[in-house]
Amino acid sequence: MLSQIYQSSLRPLLFALDPELAHSLAIATVKTVGNSPALQSVVSRLLKYENPRLTQTVMGINFPNPIGLAAGFDKNAIAIGGWASFGFGFAEVGSITCHGQSGNPQPRLFRLPQDEAIINRMGFNNIGAEAVAESLRAYTQTHQLIGIPLGINLGKSKITPLAEAKDDYVSSFKLLKDFGAYFVINVSSPNTVGLRDLQAVDTLEEILLTLQAENLEHKPLLVKIAPDLNDQDIQAIVQMCMQNQVAGIIATNTTIARQNLQSPESLISQMGGLSGQPVKKRSLEVIKLIHQISQGKITIIGVGGIASVEDAWAKIMAGASLLQLYTGLVYQGLPIVKNIAAGLVQKLDEFGLEHISEAIGKTWE
Ligand SMILES: Cc1cc2nc3c(=O)[nH]c(=O)nc-3n(C[C@H](O)[C@H](O)[C@H](O)COP(=O)(O)O)c2cc1C
Repeated sequence: MLSQIYQSSLRPLLFALDPELAHSLAIATVKTVGNSPALQSVVSRLLKYENPRLTQTVMGINFPNPIGLAAGFDKNAIAIGGWASFGFGFAEVGSITCHGQSGNPQPRLFRLPQDEAIINRMGFNNIGAEAVAESLRAYTQTHQLIGIPLGINLGKSKITPLAEAKDDYVSSFKLLKDFGAYFVINVSSPNTVGLRDLQAVDTLEEILLTLQAENLEHKPLLVKIAPDLNDQDIQAIVQMCMQNQVAGIIATNTTIARQNLQSPESLISQMGGLSGQPVKKRSLEVIKLIHQISQGKITIIGVGGIASVEDAWAKIMAGASLLQLYTGLVYQGLPIVKNIAAGLVQKLDEFGLEHISEAIGKTWE
């Protein structure tokens, strides 16, 4: 119902605006809600869905539900107080780089409505790890807990040479380590030159070993991978992650592929990462593969083209314990979170299951 109102009334207004302006308005709204207990209570009543059948402890962290905000939406962690009211079970901020940077020149964000997709080449625009740490410190001193686990996604600064990538990630981690429930090493954005080369197993292992040496509190570390890796590369990454106490893998980031799209060539040919419906199939395959290779022993956060209960359920059945959304929020609006949460409980009933944890990787039993 609220989702229909969004699609018929609010979305046309937002889509008439420049995509970055629309995004800034969305972030400002969530931040405003997060700063006002009265608004939090109104929004929660409308959009929050709570059910013990969806709560889980994953990687030692308690999640009220499996639906999270994907990285890239709240890059500078400015709206963290609001995400719980909109029904999210966790929120991942970033990507944050060691050095603040403005990202690529605009335009760098494109909607592809005919494909329910987005192309972005933002290029890790963010205020940098020190400034985010400062703002998170100030936030935690003046506010109550945000109510849901906070993930912190780390990227590599543009000015840092690839050979020094590990120092960049470690410097950010040291500054931010007190504020995140889990940390993500993002080596899969297509918009920082050479970043995806860090997915090469030896290079990635070096970064992870350096981070683990600093990770004295044993916060869960996850790696976020691209859908464009081939199956052999994925196998090597999963095995290496398991050998290095990596808690989980986020599958997947955006794709550089451009297959079977309906949008005009002028949009399809934009450089950047494609997200939404076109990435859904490969993201699901990657999740299945990781689950199969790891025999269910590594946590998977499934992301890529989730826009319905069916999409969410498919990823859980494929082996994802947790899910994330970005493009689905743009096309369906924030009510999608509640719709999916309520829909997952219906799915549990349909399949005769008591708890969401029983559905994870079900297709592989
Ligand atoms: C505009 C935009 C910016 C993004 N920025 C980041 C980012 O900074 N770090 C990251 O790990 N992923 C980033 N992503 C990728 C998303 O987190 C997600 O992995 C991807 O979009 C697939 O999910 P979706 O189809 O639900 O959007 C971004 C995606 C979009 C659309």
